[in-house]
Amino acid sequence: MLTLEHVAMEYLPGHEVLHDVSLSLAPGSFHFLTGPSGAGKSTLLSLLWLQSRASQGNVYMFGEDITRLERADLPRFRRRIGIVLQDYRLLEHLTVAQNVGLPLKVAGESNEEIDAKVEELLEWIGLSEHRDAKPSTLSGGQKQRTAIARAVITKPDFLLADEPTGNLDSELALRFMYLFEALNQTGTTVLLATHDQQLISLFDYPTLRLKDGTLQS
Ligand SMILES: Nc1ncnc2c1ncn2[C@@H]1O[C@H](COP(=O)(O)OP(=O)(O)OP(=O)(O)O)[C@@H](O)[C@H]1O
Ligand SMILES: [Mg+2]
Repeated sequence: MLTLEHVAMEYLPGHEVLHDVSLSLAPGSFHFLTGPSGAGKSTLLSLLWLQSRASQGNVYMFGEDITRLERADLPRFRRRIGIVLQDYRLLEHLTVAQNVGLPLKVAGESNEEIDAKVEELLEWIGLSEHRDAKPSTLSGGQKQRTAIARAVITKPDFLLADEPTGNLDSELALRFMYLFEALNQTGTTVLLATHDQQLISLFDYPTLRLKDGTLQS
């Protein structure tokens, strides 16, 4: 599903933040990605979200070499990926419901279908009352729940989640972990970055550990 071969990444020329990362995720697997602050977790996810490029090595996803993917091919890949970014990136001019439904709109679903799916999900995440609110009026945890809903609404082939439970209390964090598990059981490959060792210890999934941009074995 995903293979990285000797991948390096640098934001500024000569300043590598990922070094020689090789890994392989089987289709339908669930992995944690952990490591100290600054280790490169978000950088690795940004690479998989095709937001930044590897400076060395190769990245294969869904059976294709995407290392030097053309810009025009980006949407085709991104449609298959759900992502929860660490800073949420909700669209401020849209309501909560419109943010959550956006991936379905992009995929061309009808307004009736979108409304039904969005309502069901908002109900489940406890944000129905805020459906018409703008993101700026939400608490950190409410924004996070909105971002998660937007990432899972299409039931993507690959879910990338960057500290998705960082702003949630432990009860809500578990509830969302069960949502990710349920998605995983229907075939979604999950990669979840967190520095929460307690959360990791509650689940029996393999953990990838980054330290100073290097994957620990
Ligand atoms: N846009 C950027 N430009 C330059 N350097 C960056 C940029 N984003 C991150 N870095 C650097 O890359 C390294 C890895 O950062 P990254 O955000 O991937 O770490 P992280 O493991 O996600 O940390 P955290 O747990 O705090 O979220 C850090 O040294 C950071 O300073
Ligand atoms: Mg990060």
